[in-house]
Amino acid sequence: MSLPASSRFQFTADLEICRVLNGMWQVSGAHGRIDPARAVEEMFAYHDAGFTTWDLADHYGPAEDFVGAFRREFAARRGAERLAEIQAFTKWVPSPGRMTRRVVEDAIGISLSRMGVASIDLIQFHWWDYGDQSYLDALKHLADLQHEGKIRHLALTNFDTERLRVIADHGIRIVSNQVQYSLIDRRPEARMAAFCCDHSITLLAYGTLLGGLLAEKYLGRPEPRRPELNTASLQKYKNMIDAWGGWALFQELLAVLQPIADKHGVGIANIGTRYILDRPAVAGAIIGARLGVAQHIADNARVFGFAFDGDDLSMIEAVLAKSRDLMQVIGDCGDEYR
Ligand SMILES: NC(=O)c1ccc[n+]([C@@H]2O[C@H](COP(=O)([O-])OP(=O)(O)OC[C@H]3O[C@@H](n4cnc5c(N)ncnc54)[C@H](OP(=O)(O)O)[C@@H]3O)[C@@H](O)[C@H]2O)c1
Repeated sequence: MSLPASSRFQFTADLEICRVLNGMWQVSGAHGRIDPARAVEEMFAYHDAGFTTWDLADHYGPAEDFVGAFRREFAARRGAERLAEIQAFTKWVPSPGRMTRRVVEDAIGISLSRMGVASIDLIQFHWWDYGDQSYLDALKHLADLQHEGKIRHLALTNFDTERLRVIADHGIRIVSNQVQYSLIDRRPEARMAAFCCDHSITLLAYGTLLGGLLAEKYLGRPEPRRPELNTASLQKYKNMIDAWGGWALFQELLAVLQPIADKHGVGIANIGTRYILDRPAVAGAIIGARLGVAQHIADNARVFGFAFDGDDLSMIEAVLAKSRDLMQVIGDCGDEYR
């Protein structure tokens, strides 16, 4: 299988990505046991299908090591010159504290060595507390490391629009912000997307499939009880559904999405992903991959084979209009972490 040209996105002048990125939080241990050898072998299947872009983080268990192992194995089987076919976007999520050059350099050094790269394609920086302005110090050190060649591009995750503006005003060039963005969480549309379009920043969406809840298997199902939600993602996004409008409204949404999916010959998950890929400023949607445990490569490829019509979008809009406004309930992008 190979994906159509529409699956590709020129993310930066030097990096082309797949618009569906493979999310590696699912290998962290919070989504079931992962066998490292099987996981790394399955990374070849994603890559060969055209899903060449990985989203990971320093704190996703062995994710950075898996990228390192995958690259080593890839170079051995196919030649080091082809390593440029792989894009690996990691994150740095520091604990609160002073952001000295030493702290930043040490953290980046660990990621470089775990991933086995000379330069990190994209480092996505997270910050817990805007009351502490040291995030600007951290970003300045990251920019220095970028100029020294250890990082190719700087990015953020879970930053709000106000802080994005502060960072831009400090002359720090950010290429993307990774935020929660799904049919039920459309907060990026309130302020973030317009700011990004004006400043040549793109969005990478996560939570688009609600940890797997946005799928046929939950249509008509009674509200799941906590013990049934057996991954950290399912628990996280069930909370979002509760904040958004509750299980009954979510069932209404699934019931509207099912005939639209049937009409296009795709699944409900594809509808959720396509909807987000079509939004302004969105470069890609990250879909979690429980490597070696559950695999949706062929299903997710179908997102590149159809387009919505006006009827589809008005049916979806009619049900989404019944929800609570998450900007009011939670705040701007990332405020759920603060
Ligand atoms: N920056 C942040 O703060 C942040 C936070 C959360 C996540 N993320 C990133 O986003 C990634 C995605 O994680 P997420 O928690 O948001 O989960 P998600 O992508 O919304 O859900 C992933 C789950 O959806 C199911 N799935 C995938 N394709 C499907 C299909 N075609 N049909 C039906 N079900 C399908 C799979 O469930 P099964 O495995 O059960 O089959 C998979 O484990 C993470 O790995 C991480 O890279 C970032």
